[in-house]
Amino acid sequence: MTVRIAPSVLSADFRILGDEIAMCEAGGADWIHVDVMDGRFVPNLSFGVKVIEAVRKCTKKVVDVHLMVQEPEKYFDDYVKAGADVLTIHVEAAPHLDRQLARIKELGVKAGVALNPGTPLAAIEEVVHMLDLVLIMSVNPGYGGQKFIDYSVDKIERMRFLLDQAESNAVLEVDGGISRDTIQRCWSAGADTFVAGNAIFGAADPRAEIAVLRNLCVE
Ligand code: DX5
Ligand code: ZN
Repeated sequence: MTVRIAPSVLSADFRILGDEIAMCEAGGADWIHVDVMDGRFVPNLSFGVKVIEAVRKCTKKVVDVHLMVQEPEKYFDDYVKAGADVLTIHVEAAPHLDRQLARIKELGVKAGVALNPGTPLAAIEEVVHMLDLVLIMSVNPGYGGQKFIDYSVDKIERMRFLLDQAESNAVLEVDGGISRDTIQRCWSAGADTFVAGNAIFGAADPRAEIAVLRNLCVE
């Protein structure tokens, strides 16, 4: 199975964002994860369209945009124009999930759905066939550097089962508290794409840490 490491620029030094992204690329990062927060869906504000645009200019890697916002559809067009390759919305912020996913796909980018730790998988079962990506949150979203929630592992395993059952090739991504201590369990449970903020940008050697994380994805 393909393993993708997706550094989250939320933990990067914004004074030198371009250098930070270049460092991730040099370390072999596969995707660049960009966390948009609105201070309403989550209790924190981060950044929006302009930063996606800046990230796009810095890299040819997949720009993986995680929308922790209410009414995400308001800005779908803008995020796509800014250069997003994947748009992931939260099911808790998407009362019209089918319509919102269809709209993302219409715009020609990959459509993902994220679930908070307390949200059951049943919330997305009906739309599995529409999904390019499922994001299992392994912390309550809003901040980098939080502790991994252990019961996420079982949830990843059940999601992998649902994807296999539907013969879906959707990416199964996990986000929050991913580190040397937690990545292997998530990989064994069936995740293939790993977001990491603090573990990479907080490491003594961030470039090397990307390889360390990747190499832990073995039996
Ligand atoms: C959390 C964000 C994450 C965050 C992960 O709400 O969605 O992408 O940057 O940070 P770490 O890896 O430090 O938990
Ligand atoms: Zn994220």
